[in-house]
Amino acid sequence: MHTKYARRCVVLVVMAATAIWSGCSPKNVEPLKTVAIEDGTIDPAEWGNVYPLQYKLWKQTGEPTPAGKSKYKKGNDAGGRVDKLDEYPFLALLYNGWGMGIEYTEPRGHQHMIEDQLHVDPSRYKAGGSCLTCKTPYAPLLEKQMGKAYFSTPYKEVLAKVPKDLQTQGVACIDCHDSRGMALKISRGFTLGKALPKIGLDEAKLTTQEKRTLVCAQCHVSYMITKDKDMHSTDVVFPWKDSKAGNISIENIITQIKSSPANLEWTQSVTGFRLGFIRHPEYELFSNNSPHWANGVSCADCHMPTVTADGQKVSDHRIMSPLKNDLVACAACHTEKPQELRDKIFAVQDKAMIVYLKAGYATATDAKLFEMANKVAVSGKKIDKNLYAQAREQYEQALYRVIFIGAENSTGFHNPKETMRVLNDSLKYAASADAQLRKLLEQAGEKVPEKIDLELSKYTNNRGVKKLMFKPEHEIKSPEVK
Ligand code: HEC
Ligand code: HEC
Ligand code: HEC
Ligand code: HEC
Repeated sequence: MHTKYARRCVVLVVMAATAIWSGCSPKNVEPLKTVAIEDGTIDPAEWGNVYPLQYKLWKQTGEPTPAGKSKYKKGNDAGGRVDKLDEYPFLALLYNGWGMGIEYTEPRGHQHMIEDQLHVDPSRYKAGGSCLTCKTPYAPLLEKQMGKAYFSTPYKEVLAKVPKDLQTQGVACIDCHDSRGMALKISRGFTLGKALPKIGLDEAKLTTQEKRTLVCAQCHVSYMITKDKDMHSTDVVFPWKDSKAGNISIENIITQIKSSPANLEWTQSVTGFRLGFIRHPEYELFSNNSPHWANGVSCADCHMPTVTADGQKVSDHRIMSPLKNDLVACAACHTEKPQELRDKIFAVQDKAMIVYLKAGYATATDAKLFEMANKVAVSGKKIDKNLYAQAREQYEQALYRVIFIGAENSTGFHNPKETMRVLNDSLKYAASADAQLRKLLEQAGEKVPEKIDLELSKYTNNRGVKKLMFKPEHEIKSPEVK
């Protein structure tokens, strides 16, 4: 990040040159009168007594978001839950074999995180206490008290250690702030704190602008829940080794995942492969030299704009999609009308979505070809093991890229160029696995149809008690691949 510039006025220098900057209207918030809150105070209501405006806005993340404004992120609109597996049925095929293939909901507001976790199919928190790491503000305390047992102890047992009235409390003031002077602070020392040195950052030297991104990067990042040989969780680790701030690439993430069997968390049913997983990599994608990152823009600049509440200028603690509050955040730097910016966002997202769908279906087709190859091998026929291993490598490269972009929540907006690069690479890897598998199958005497039946209803339907059961195929909205 360009730390040499101060926040907001960073942008001035650059934007004057590009003529989209509207003039320095320093929309900075009111100077803060701080009252020290006792160290270790977790209950947000106590912070709210001192900072009622931020508290009120923060609470609103529990309300439904305005509907009809976002094109791809409707998870919190009208208070409903939207499942990625219904939106992108190829994911139900690819993730079949563990919790992610049963239920994988789109994000909702911060107040909902524990409630949503309790609602989701229980297979999703099988990993244990680890799953609370990005959810409860008690996580740092629990990890400290329980040590290694925190990660593997059953989820509900760990959650029961949180005081009753705060058991469903999601991200709180203490997750992002120092209670004395309200400076931004990294609370997840045991995850992000450990990962910062890996990418060359010194926690003690972070600027406020860097922290306006990194407080979010405590949770909006990918992580591996490492396993021992009995598949008990041992840690939550970011796959950032050998990367640096500003360049945590998908290539490096895949290399880290593949570097140890401890990182392989699940078995994909269709292929039988043990694999790793990539979660919500907002920080990784955004910080990989996106235009906004390169110009020193932070997550908070877009997701926590300055707003007026009770006549005072404050940071909007109702964190949500910028589309849902009509892109007020963008106006701090851009002169275009909201409608124009909205069209630009949709154009980026539509373009990404077209390739994402192609890559997703191509990868799912590979998986089905592996299923055929595995059957042939089991039947005792000889298959070319070398070719099989090559195809597997290509397939995994394609699949991890699909997982990466599908788990990232901006539908490409956070880094349009990098998104297209990753997806186009995924398509290439998937095509080459496809060709290798067809060759292998034909060599073994199999007749491979040109169009492979993905049998999607087998994976989308009947995903567990809470899911829609036995939905006929024609009712499943399956985006057509062209
Ligand atoms: C302690 C972990 C944590 C921190 C810190 C955090 N988030 Fe989140 N965030 C989450 C989780 C978990 C969800 C999904 C909640 C759900 O679906 O119930 C989420 C959801 C969101 C959403 C979707 C909201 C909606 O209405 O659908 C946005 C936007 C978001 N976060 C942005 C941010 C930004 C920006 C920051 C930093 C200023 C941040 N988050 C800090 C964990 C966190
Ligand atoms: C997900 C992270 C996050 C959470 C949770 C959070 N804040 Fe903030 N808060 C921020 C950021 C980012 C800023 C902007 C700080 C800056 O730029 O110096 C901020 C600024 C503030 C400020 C300074 C004035 C202003 O509005 O900019 C106050 C006061 C504040 N927060 C209070 C709270 C309170 C009270 C809570 C809990 C009810 C809370 N915050 C929860 C991230 C968070
Ligand atoms: C230049 C502005 C900008 C910056 C900087 C930015 N975002 Fe976003 N973010 C967006 C837009 C636009 C979307 C797309 C929202 C949509 O489709 O509704 C989005 C989507 C999201 C979503 C999904 C929202 C939802 O409703 O489900 C999350 C989570 C998120 N961003 C987190 C982050 C985090 C974390 C960072 C920093 C690492 C960040 N964003 C940086 C503009 C930004
Ligand atoms: C803190 C300042 C800042 C904020 C806030 C901001 N941007 Fe930007 N934006 C920039 C800068 C700087 C560039 C890069 C200009 C360049 O390199 O030409 C940029 C570039 C862009 C571009 C690519 C260039 C173009 O016009 O096609 C788009 C699209 C864009 N921003 C949309 C948004 C949207 C949408 C939001 C709000 C969700 C937003 N920005 C918020 C500073 C900002």
